[in-house]
Amino acid sequence: MPDNTIASSESADRIVCRRLVGRTAVITGAGSGIGLAAARRLASEGAHVVCGDIDEPTGKAAAKEVGGIFVPVDVTGADQVEALFKAAQDTYGSVDIAFNNAGISPPEDDSILETSLEAWKRVQEVNLTSVYLCCKAALPYMRRQRRGSIINTASFVALMGAATSQISYTASKGGVLAMSRELGVQFAREGIRVNALCPGPVNTPLLKELFAKDPERAARRLVHIPVGRFAEATEIAAAVAFLASDDASFVNAAEFVVDGGISGAYVTPL
Ligand SMILES: NC(=O)c1ccc[n+]([C@@H]2O[C@H](COP(=O)([O-])OP(=O)(O)OC[C@H]3O[C@@H](n4cnc5c(N)ncnc54)[C@H](O)[C@@H]3O)[C@@H](O)[C@H]2O)c1
Repeated sequence: MPDNTIASSESADRIVCRRLVGRTAVITGAGSGIGLAAARRLASEGAHVVCGDIDEPTGKAAAKEVGGIFVPVDVTGADQVEALFKAAQDTYGSVDIAFNNAGISPPEDDSILETSLEAWKRVQEVNLTSVYLCCKAALPYMRRQRRGSIINTASFVALMGAATSQISYTASKGGVLAMSRELGVQFAREGIRVNALCPGPVNTPLLKELFAKDPERAARRLVHIPVGRFAEATEIAAAVAFLASDDASFVNAAEFVVDGGISGAYVTPL
């Protein structure tokens, strides 16, 4: 990594904002990565956090750490998703924030030339159909309350093409973007905001391991990032907290890009 990079803000760990006191947040994929960082951040801002994950040990650990509840869920199942949002309502009395974040990027999803129909469908189910199911389950509660913030995790790859393709992943995130925009427009006058979050590449344990094994692969990506490094999950979580809060009261149907400038760049600094 070049030594002229902008360091990540350490302030995310020392935040004293309390913008979400009394709000209930449902987070899918709360056991790891961006979801876990968001669970910590939303809880630190005062929210009750409902941690949904298919992985029981990590989901439970997240819920315990943030003083929330764990609900086991496979986000591709309508009944399970409905039960997740019902658990939030039954336990805390409202559903104010839905961070629909669970997603996968398996190695079988690759160039269109190699990706099987089965691999394509699996990624569409987990990354796109799940967001449809979560929004469908959250909206009735939010419409009754006449208040709510839905944040759907898309990606910067929904905005740009990559020669290192994961074809179904990219298409699924494009779908998340279009669906979020449409829902944001449809429900705006009922006090509900729907935004798509577009993170750049995040420094997750998986990514670290992959790039430690294959530094050329990391270098090929880092050269396109004006900031000169990958994001920390806490930096994405900070954007989630903003979108969830009333500070974002006029941010709706947006493509909320948190990518260190990747999508704005032509030539990056040496
Ligand atoms: N990491 C990145 O660089 C990056 C960049 C842009 C967008 N994203 C998106 O951010 C989201 C979170 O990514 P991450 O890097 O934190 O991933 P992660 O793998 O660290 O965490 C994903 C979580 O989702 C859970 N999950 C997977 N399938 C599930 C299912 N069917 N039902 C319920 N839970 C399930 C996993 O158990 C895991 O806890 C994803 O939608 C991903 O596509 C990630």
